[in-house]
Amino acid sequence: PDGTVEIPVVVNVLYRTAAENISDAQIQSQINTLNADFSATNSDINKIPTEFAAVAAGNTGVKFRLAQVNRKSTTVRNWRTNDAMKKTSSKGLDATDPTHYFNIWVVGEMGSVLGYATFPESAGLWNDGVVIAAKYFGNTSAVPYNLGRTATHEVGHYLNLRHIWGDANCGNDLVADTPTQTTANYGKPTYPLLNTCSGVQRSVMFMNYMDYVDDAAMFMFSGGQKTRIQSVIASAGPRAGLRI
Ligand code: ARG
Ligand code: ZN
Ligand code: CA
Repeated sequence: PDGTVEIPVVVNVLYRTAAENISDAQIQSQINTLNADFSATNSDINKIPTEFAAVAAGNTGVKFRLAQVNRKSTTVRNWRTNDAMKKTSSKGLDATDPTHYFNIWVVGEMGSVLGYATFPESAGLWNDGVVIAAKYFGNTSAVPYNLGRTATHEVGHYLNLRHIWGDANCGNDLVADTPTQTTANYGKPTYPLLNTCSGVQRSVMFMNYMDYVDDAAMFMFSGGQKTRIQSVIASAGPRAGLRI
């Protein structure tokens, strides 16, 4: 009755080393983090500044359920953002029914890239889903990207969220309640982080999952972002196939 949509998740693990063949427990830790972050039950939710608590998303209405884990040993040492991991014919693993399942590929190294995602325009296509490097998947020791929030960020893209700075100087993220900001933020900024776009000086929402700050410094989606997520998974939305 609460209108929550439960998304079935297929995790495709492509490993070269034993460490890259992450455990079922590590996979489940990532699912748990996604569920906490998308329902606003994350343990750091109370760090949201009062100014932004007023526009925080609360529960986005999306839940994740681990449906299947596929594992494959590979000789590939360095993956790139060219989707090779998404095809069995290029040493990867084909997606499982991407119209009805959210596919995640966990790979070894991707250089400096932590993860990448497809937007809803790719719904149901062979390459649809999210890729995350193994050491950032779930709770790991890869400080400062050790809390599973790379996946939270990439799943945000999968559910139609743009970077909060709009990928341009004072760019547009198509969300009204996230203040315009000049550029991406990194590390652990201190609130308020003042920024001037179109003559207005105010703090930016650097603690949003769609910025580039450390995992420990991001802990919220906004109400406007929740609206975009819900249109994607609505019964007439581009990702309606994920509904049970
Ligand atoms: N696509 C971004 C990258 O690969 C993900 C950044 C995620 N940020 C984070 N704190 N986990 O750089
Ligand atoms: Zn991103
Ligand atoms: Ca905005």
